[in-house]
Amino acid sequence: MKGFRSLKLSLRFILPLAVVLGVLAYSVVPLVDKLTMRWFVRDMDMRSQLIANTLHDPLAELIGLGNKARINSLLLRAIQDERLLALGYCSDEGTLLYRTPTFPKSISCAAATDDSKAASQILQLPEGAVHVTRHHIIPETGTKGDLILVHDTSFIERRSADTRKYIIGLFVVLGVVTSLVTVFVAHLSWRGWMEGVRAMLKGEGLLKPFTAQGVDSELQPLVGDLKTLMRSMEAERRLADDSTITWSPDTLRKLLHKQLTGEKIIVVSNREPYIHSKIDAGDIEVHRPASGLVTAVEPVMRACSGTWIAHGSGNADRDTVDTNDRVMVPPHQPEYNLRRIWLTQEEEKGYYYGFSNEGFWPLCHNAHVRPVFRTSDWEQYVAINQRFADAVVTEADTDNPVVLVQDYHFALLPEMIRRVLPKATIITFWHIPWPNPESFGICPWRHELLKGMLGSTILGFHTPYHCKNFLETVDRYLETRIEHESSTISRRGQLTMVESYPISIQWPPPWQGTLPPVEQTYGEILSTLGLPTGHLLGIGVDRMDYTKGILERFNAVERMFELHPELVGHFTFIQIAAPSRSALEEYQAFEARLHALEKRINSRFTCGGIPAIILKAEHHEPDQVNRYYRAAQVCMVTSLHDGMNLVAKEYVASRDDERGVLILSQFTGAANELYEALIVNPYHVEQTAEALYQGLTMPEYEQQERMRSMRAQVRDFNVYRWAGRMLLDAARVRQREKLATRIGRES
Ligand code: F6P
Repeated sequence: MKGFRSLKLSLRFILPLAVVLGVLAYSVVPLVDKLTMRWFVRDMDMRSQLIANTLHDPLAELIGLGNKARINSLLLRAIQDERLLALGYCSDEGTLLYRTPTFPKSISCAAATDDSKAASQILQLPEGAVHVTRHHIIPETGTKGDLILVHDTSFIERRSADTRKYIIGLFVVLGVVTSLVTVFVAHLSWRGWMEGVRAMLKGEGLLKPFTAQGVDSELQPLVGDLKTLMRSMEAERRLADDSTITWSPDTLRKLLHKQLTGEKIIVVSNREPYIHSKIDAGDIEVHRPASGLVTAVEPVMRACSGTWIAHGSGNADRDTVDTNDRVMVPPHQPEYNLRRIWLTQEEEKGYYYGFSNEGFWPLCHNAHVRPVFRTSDWEQYVAINQRFADAVVTEADTDNPVVLVQDYHFALLPEMIRRVLPKATIITFWHIPWPNPESFGICPWRHELLKGMLGSTILGFHTPYHCKNFLETVDRYLETRIEHESSTISRRGQLTMVESYPISIQWPPPWQGTLPPVEQTYGEILSTLGLPTGHLLGIGVDRMDYTKGILERFNAVERMFELHPELVGHFTFIQIAAPSRSALEEYQAFEARLHALEKRINSRFTCGGIPAIILKAEHHEPDQVNRYYRAAQVCMVTSLHDGMNLVAKEYVASRDDERGVLILSQFTGAANELYEALIVNPYHVEQTAEALYQGLTMPEYEQQERMRSMRAQVRDFNVYRWAGRMLLDAARVRQREKLATRIGRES
């Protein structure tokens, strides 16, 4: 089989070579024939001229004497030369006066001395081809005429045949030698290529430079292409696999245990999934914070179980934990551990409000708010990251736990964990955008932050664009090896894969099949708000944050009323704005501006006691928010810059009636997935106002078409798939690391 393969490989080179050489020989032989003929004719012309010159004087003299016998004898002597076949003398009148006996009868004086023809010509006679030349003889007396020289050309034919044989022989030898050399070189190169590709398939290319494996460096350009190809094949395979499974908690659980056998999941985030607070009469209530992070990660945690480490921010949190600061959650159906970390007010001020939210947050969002960096905040940030890292080490019950680090509060954590647990699988997910290198460059601690993040096994962003920004930032500020084709960064032997994992929500939604019909909820909300039947509703749900574009949204509502006054008194926009980071001046100022704007717009467009805008600046639990989603004809998400924005996906998930219109900012990660939303630039007031009007007047069939398609997208790309993809990639990277260690040991 191997011999057959090698024969096939050889034939692949020899056959085209043979064909090319054959064609060359076929076209070269007539060319050489023509060329030799031309040379010989020129030779014979010269020779004829020489003979004619030699004969001229004696012949002229004999013609003058009219001595026929001596003329014939002279001519006969001259043709002793083997090539000169015959001689003749034609008078100017065209009579053959003298000739050797060999003079061909078929050559007439008329033809030979025809002035219109060349002085030298090849004539085809029945006896064969001859070369004929004529030379004028001018005797002093006697008949003027032409000496005709006839040369035998058969020797040309003979020589041509010989030349042809030599040329063909030369081509055959050339063909054989070239084939042998080509096949030999091809076999050598082929073997080198095969070794190179094999090495790459083993994963060596990703972990070590190819040259280090002794593989031909000429392969380097090919390595990138092959890796890209392999990655896209892998992605396709994964997608094919994905499409055959419905991603559910069960799928995720199985994947975790199969791919990362026996590992324990540890989630680290600043915001905790459940907050315990004291209410009047000393009772304690528990609530879910307004956080996209919590919305996404909580169902994953319930599916995988393990420990979630977070800041205990509720005023009853300490009352509800055990002696190890742990509490089982969710409160009504405990499935995993919540391990709380305590912060003093000063620590919270420096680490959370200061560095994270006055520095990092505006640094990563293009919302025209300037970041503020203080050394005291940075010191707290480092200290708190260390405290969380210590907690991870305490919570880990193996030396290779799977740790999911969440968001910008913990950029230093991956490296801190890696130092103590070098075998840990650290998956860091960045929930907010990543800026371009110039913007990031203004951070005084940019090197420390990047190094910290590169302790991760996987570093996830919402979009490929954020990944690109991150790779470029690392390239600008750190000494690393970046492989763009495989999207990996290698620093001091640590490999980090940077990939986009668009985050999502739980599907099916937790309330599926338990809620009253949309019409009923709509009626209830209208009556709660004191609005008339059939009144149109718009909804916005955000934290009270300047990045969310709430001011721009209100401006668009106002403009819509200006452009379409017929809707005044028939439409109300409800804004839920959960209090957030309100200790910061920037947030306080923003809240004040929002209230002022609401007041101003309502003063213009309240009609018959019906307000244009209802601003609910208070916390709402997920089920309350869900009721508003289901009741509103339009949901507006107008962030000025947002990693993903899960409100957009939650609204889509809530509409099991396949009605409702989503207006979505082009500056959200969600706009890369929910194409059927009305995509707007929130900075453009008229465009957003028109989108709102279009949403309120959109025919039902169009709403249904758009909503159905968006629901399919959210269903197929749910949060279990988001987590599953990261775990799968982490398993692959770990596999490669193991392979690299083994190869390192063996070599
Ligand atoms: O989604 C981005 C994010 O900053 C999360 O990290 C955070 O949980 C959420 O917004 C709310 O912010 P905070 O935790 O500061 O209230």
